[in-house]
Amino acid sequence: MPLLDNPFSLTGRSAVVTGAGSGIGRGIALVLASQGAKVWVADVNSAGADATVADIRERGWDAESASLDVTDADAAHALADSVAEAHGSLDIWVNNAGITADGPPSTVDDDELLRIWKVNFLGVVHGSQAAARLMAEQERKGAIVNITTGGVDRAMVTVAAYTSSKAAAHQYSRSLALELGATGVRVNTVAAGWVETGITRRHYGEGVDRERDLQAKLERTPLGFIGDEFDQGYAVLYLVSDAARFVTGAVLRPNGGTSMQW
Ligand SMILES: NC(=O)c1ccc[n+]([C@@H]2O[C@H](COP(=O)([O-])OP(=O)(O)OC[C@H]3O[C@@H](n4cnc5c(N)ncnc54)[C@H](O)[C@@H]3O)[C@@H](O)[C@H]2O)c1
Repeated sequence: MPLLDNPFSLTGRSAVVTGAGSGIGRGIALVLASQGAKVWVADVNSAGADATVADIRERGWDAESASLDVTDADAAHALADSVAEAHGSLDIWVNNAGITADGPPSTVDDDELLRIWKVNFLGVVHGSQAAARLMAEQERKGAIVNITTGGVDRAMVTVAAYTSSKAAAHQYSRSLALELGATGVRVNTVAAGWVETGITRRHYGEGVDRERDLQAKLERTPLGFIGDEFDQGYAVLYLVSDAARFVTGAVLRPNGGTSMQW
């Protein structure tokens, strides 16, 4: 590989980020746009998507809003087609949309499992298939990143449907990386560390004290601070950039070192 002047530049590339109307997805969209990508901010929540697009444009970068429910495979394929047609190529696809719910493994019922799995697992499959189909045929091969969770490294008793769906997405990513390797399309995973967002904030005020919760998290974090959505975004940036041209099937863990601890 030649020494590159700016291996993280995304100038001229298109990127789709699902669930980018909020939280980590918004952070990923902003980071990719900051490096020159045109970002399609895809979310089931159109108001959230529009707000992220406005934020990106106010900073002088490029973005479009896209209404997408990741549980709908046809909609994912239609979005991939429209981006490739509008831009000339589909270069980056980040499967970030996710939901969670409480419930221990011994009592979680089928409906609840399926509701979570449809977004967190099938959503990843739909997005990956829609992107891979086009990326494999292009001259400049694309990169897919799937957002799972550091929770797959450990057991969590309260969110069985969530962690099982994320573990499935984790394994799916690596199988897809194997299958697509010969096409040049790279598939990687970011097992995100804890970030305060819509998903994680939901318990504050319902018996969970925010300051005490953050302090407990800090004590488990070797680097001594809690990361944010941009820490996750920069991990994604590395994986989709030319700097990572030899990287596929990898899992990055931006979590301040928490997953090392017994
Ligand atoms: N926040 C954390 O600590 C944390 C840690 C590890 C992994 N994650 C993962 O990061 C991702 C983003 O979560 P977040 O924390 O930013 O939460 P968030 O609730 O702030 O954002 C999730 C976004 O996904 C969108 N979404 C939900 N269902 C969708 C669907 N069917 N189609 C399209 N969009 C949909 C929501 O509208 C929302 O904008 C999720 O996959 C989550 O599991 C989060």
